[in-house]
Amino acid sequence: MPTEGVTGANKGIGYEIVKALCQRYNGHVYLTARNAIKGNAAACKLRKLGLYPIFHQLDIGDEESIKKFRDYITKHEGGIDLLFNNAGVSFNECTQAYAKEAENVINVNYFGTLHAVEILGPILRYGARIINTSSFFGHLSNIPSSSLRNRLAARSLTVDGLCHLMNEYLSDVRNGVHVTKGWGDSPYTVSKVGVAALTIVLQRMFDNDPEKRQISVNSVHPGYTQTDLTGNMGTYTAEEGARSALFAGLDAEGLRGQFVWDNLAIIDWYAATPPKSF
Ligand SMILES: NC(=O)c1ccc[n+]([C@@H]2O[C@H](COP(=O)([O-])OP(=O)(O)OC[C@H]3O[C@@H](n4cnc5c(N)ncnc54)[C@H](OP(=O)(O)O)[C@@H]3O)[C@@H](O)[C@H]2O)c1
Repeated sequence: MPTEGVTGANKGIGYEIVKALCQRYNGHVYLTARNAIKGNAAACKLRKLGLYPIFHQLDIGDEESIKKFRDYITKHEGGIDLLFNNAGVSFNECTQAYAKEAENVINVNYFGTLHAVEILGPILRYGARIINTSSFFGHLSNIPSSSLRNRLAARSLTVDGLCHLMNEYLSDVRNGVHVTKGWGDSPYTVSKVGVAALTIVLQRMFDNDPEKRQISVNSVHPGYTQTDLTGNMGTYTAEEGARSALFAGLDAEGLRGQFVWDNLAIIDWYAATPPKSF
């Protein structure tokens, strides 16, 4: 049976991705959430609409939790066809502990996404698709320093090299030099640029997959969407915010290492400015 998993799906865009998959996809749809009570409640809400996702706990900040999900899927499904890396957190500007908060944002958004792919990667089936949720802020041009942009965009960049860059950023934050070093003043931006860069690096790796599984990895920008993450501000409803991920996961053909914008255009991540976002 085709199988797909959505991270951070108890609410917001992730919930809407699950809902649409249940409506459109002939397979087992896994609604995952770090909090089992919230995740079960979300699955229950969908059941009342006649939709039947399967809930499983999954905290992308906890490698043991990802491994438990992998083991469950291996035993009950045999593999995954679609992996929506949707879970993410924003930067809480109100907190005094800037460095600690920055670490949390990078750890969940960048390292959490990476660990999900690393741990679930071995059970991806032939032709599987990975959809990484980046953002408008994930466009490379949001990093002020041209030297950092060049390092993030290098064709020789590896996962280890990118992790080194993310850790270098956190070290610069701890030393209070991240702005003068040209990272800008937003940990969320650095985390989402990291996710977009990771997508490109992972695609290069899967292109050399010894098992030749033809796996694709793409980034998406949902658009400015009314969810808890934005204090319910935004141009789009959560259902509309799910469109770019669903397009990359279900509709688009032949996308590999690309970035799907909120208007479903494939954009140039390396361009000097980001495209308009609605
Ligand atoms: N809304 C926008 O305008 C916008 C724009 C661009 C990109 N995005 C991205 O879209 C994605 C979805 O965001 P959203 O707007 O739908 O926000 P949301 O309503 O706040 O949903 C975020 C989801 O991620 C989950 N999550 C956070 N940390 C997690 C972890 N360690 N493990 C597993 N799940 C975790 C949250 O779970 P809890 O309920 O337990 O906290 C929640 O289910 C995020 O990656 C976000 O950065 C959003």
